[in-house]
Amino acid sequence: MNATATIRHETDEDQQDIWNVNQAAFNGVDEANLVYALRDGGFVEVSLVAECDQQIVGHILFSRVTINTNTGPVNALSLAPMAVAPEHQRQAIGTKLVEAGLDACRKLGHKIVVVLGHTEFYPRFGFSAELAQPLASPFGGGEAWMALELVPGALEGVIGSVKYSPPFGAFG
Ligand SMILES: CC(C)(COP(=O)(O)OP(=O)(O)OC[C@H]1O[C@@H](n2cnc3c(N)ncnc32)[C@H](O)[C@@H]1OP(=O)(O)O)[C@@H](O)C(=O)NCCC(=O)NCCS
Repeated sequence: MNATATIRHETDEDQQDIWNVNQAAFNGVDEANLVYALRDGGFVEVSLVAECDQQIVGHILFSRVTINTNTGPVNALSLAPMAVAPEHQRQAIGTKLVEAGLDACRKLGHKIVVVLGHTEFYPRFGFSAELAQPLASPFGGGEAWMALELVPGALEGVIGSVKYSPPFGAFG
């Protein structure tokens, strides 16, 4: 457990550090560039950083998506990307980022979050592949495709396909 990591909203000055953390964690530039594209497109709802000794060592981003259903669109958020610098992983920094991120989303009035990610990591926060089953993912994902209700019952009766914002097109 790393007691010294503090979580806060990103500022303009953090952008390069956030790019660096994503590039290092994913060992490539795609997710790092996606963060810029989501910002530039105005799709970001919550973007938090984890700081240790005044150094940014982790980042999490939530952006708006739409669930298209037979009865109309339902607003939701996508958790992506999230990253902790390799030398800081497995010190509960990712856990702090997810918990603080979900709290921030709830406070903004959001009800549903989807994620395509590690099956051994996200379920501990309430993400569930079962909840995501009625939601078609443009990227597939199987058990890695998960959803979470920030408000209990928010996904009740919601059947449809999730439409991501254009910056995610690069991952299609
Ligand atoms: C996934 C990630 C954000 C977790 O951050 P973290 O600070 O290491 O996470 P925590 O210490 O809070 O929690 C540890 C859990 O994360 C998961 N985890 C950590 N590193 C992981 C890795 N390299 N691959 C898969 N899962 C990992 C494990 O489930 C681990 O649980 P355990 O310690 O009980 O085995 C971080 O490992 C990371 O940045 N990985 C590379 C980028 C990535 O995969 N991002 C997520 C895309 S969905």
